[in-house]
Amino acid sequence: MADHERSTVLEIQNLTKRFGRMTAVDNVSFLLENGKLMTFVGPSGCGKTTLLRMISGLTEPTEGQIVLDGEDITFLRANARDTAMVFQNYALFPHMTVSQNIGFGLQIRKKPKDEVKSEVERLLELVQLQGLGDRKTQQLSGGQQQRVALARALSLHPKILLLDEPLSNLDANLRVMMREEIRKLQEQLHLSIIFVTHDQEEAMSISDILVVMNNGIVKQIGSPTEIYERPIDEFVANFVGYINFFAGTVYSLSGDEMIFRTEHGDLAIQQPPMQVSPGDRLKAVIRPESIGIARPGHQTDAGKNVIEGCVVSNMYIGAIIRYTIAVGDQMVYSLNSLPWIFLPKLCLLL
Ligand SMILES: Nc1ncnc2c1ncn2[C@@H]1O[C@H](COP(=O)(O)OP(=O)(O)OP(=O)(O)O)[C@@H](O)[C@H]1O
Ligand SMILES: [Mg+2]
Repeated sequence: MADHERSTVLEIQNLTKRFGRMTAVDNVSFLLENGKLMTFVGPSGCGKTTLLRMISGLTEPTEGQIVLDGEDITFLRANARDTAMVFQNYALFPHMTVSQNIGFGLQIRKKPKDEVKSEVERLLELVQLQGLGDRKTQQLSGGQQQRVALARALSLHPKILLLDEPLSNLDANLRVMMREEIRKLQEQLHLSIIFVTHDQEEAMSISDILVVMNNGIVKQIGSPTEIYERPIDEFVANFVGYINFFAGTVYSLSGDEMIFRTEHGDLAIQQPPMQVSPGDRLKAVIRPESIGIARPGHQTDAGKNVIEGCVVSNMYIGAIIRYTIAVGDQMVYSLNSLPWIFLPKLCLLL
């Protein structure tokens, strides 16, 4: 297959890194398609940085294989790889100007001066830093430094861009703006990116593919919607947003509908997973935005999915209200301003 036709840019097979007796990355495998943005999320210490460092060549794997664009690069030295990494603290060269930082990699590769100059100009424009080329990097804001780091990483046209929490030093508004810019740049230049973040909302909004990690292990890979609506277990469900769990038993299955018996009453669940049978004990996962509230006796269009509760508190979050509702001895969260109970999106944990 010709290089430009290859659809998989990165293939990670059974990658493991042990530090002494501690396994930081444990038998991780995944594929990244060309031109896609894949985001890794997971708690602190779950192995995200170690994984990126192995892909970029800064850390040697204990086991496994890394194939970049068809070439096995597992043991290739870092500066011989077509990868570029942006670190959380940007790691800019403080004694150099913005232009010198961006052009550094090109200069090292002995590109002609003219070429370096015009490439740096092009990159400055790309990350919207025109006119700031002669500044020292300390004279820039956090967001501007972030753009320099990005431009420097892009200067060598890496086959893959590795971004390790690149926005975590920025304030909330700038974070949102920069993540939109990164996404735009990625689509415009058809970049293949691995992005690491702690921020669930950032992960949900920026990614083509989301990977949830815990304890060095990949828990689930899928589109943000798949992971949000069909998490494979409680950890993943909890990690990508607020969640309500209802424990219960499968009472009956007919056609596309399952009746799920909980201590608070029966819930009708559409399109349950294939592998459930009557009598199975499960947990139903209901996102807060899928629960509405109504006064007793008021009509709702939630069909059978109505349970009784008592509103304990409400909190305004922008345009919506978060209600905390006591249902028996369980607290249930509802993110909604609509006056009815409605449970359209349910999924089950086996
Ligand atoms: N050089 C090292 N020597 C020993 N242990 C290490 C080394 N680097 C990382 N670790 C350990 O490996 C585990 C994974 O670390 P890693 O930095 O990959 O986590 P992370 O997911 O990036 O966390 P964070 O979200 O806090 O950045 C941690 O327990 C860490 O202490
Ligand atoms: Mg890290």
